[in-house]
Amino acid sequence: MSLSAALQAKLDNTITVLKSITDDYSPATFANSFGAEDMVLTDLINQYDVDIEIFSLDTGRLPAETYQLMQEVSRRYSKPVITYFPNTESVENYIRSNGPNAFYDSVELRKGCCFVRKIEPLRRAIANKKAWVTGLRREQAVTRADLPISEWDADNGLQKFSPLVEWSEDDVWEYLREQKVPYNELHDKHYPSIGCAPCTRAVSAGEDVRAGRWWWENPESKECGLHSKTPSS
Ligand code: ADX
Repeated sequence: MSLSAALQAKLDNTITVLKSITDDYSPATFANSFGAEDMVLTDLINQYDVDIEIFSLDTGRLPAETYQLMQEVSRRYSKPVITYFPNTESVENYIRSNGPNAFYDSVELRKGCCFVRKIEPLRRAIANKKAWVTGLRREQAVTRADLPISEWDADNGLQKFSPLVEWSEDDVWEYLREQKVPYNELHDKHYPSIGCAPCTRAVSAGEDVRAGRWWWENPESKECGLHSKTPSS
């Protein structure tokens, strides 16, 4: 592998962190959204045979390109990705009360949708685990600027690791290209950050990487609750 010396140092550190999780926090599980960062972690966990489970939250509203990548990942890598779906009755109730696209009407209704489609399934995915791993990076958002590599997640009652906190966007792409890791084709269409299809759009040159997520809201509210200190319910 011929990565730049700076990235190689970050990579060595990331691998050390992943291995330490298996030593000290087993069983652990990795939250895979199939975004660029998560493809780095998916590749590392498979390549180094790291004993960390991988799960994904299928909200039911993901872009077609994300499903295409999921399929490719299942063919290419040996470790399965365990999929969690929203509770059927909760989705039915939300849609009967609010309609299918109510998330555009208010931050409260948007967070309600995120709760049903992501937060409740996340709780099931991390139940009985000692740690969960995410692909969060500090550079991604104002809400993530102080993110530690490891912290106690008090809301969910387990340790939370973000081994890529110090990686830049360029680092992520250097790794993916160097290792020929598959990635979501929406990234080539100016979608740096990808969530649900109706809540994600492309960004223009110079716009923030998360400008295309819940683009009608202020940057301060743009979290789904997966990574907020006190998730909305
Ligand atoms: S989000 O909270 O605003 O949606 P973002 O898309 O930046 O988060 O992803 C940050 C991290 O949250 C990902 O690296 C991943 O660990 C986790 N994550 C986000 N969405 C999902 C998902 N659908 N399934 C599993 N993990 C996810």
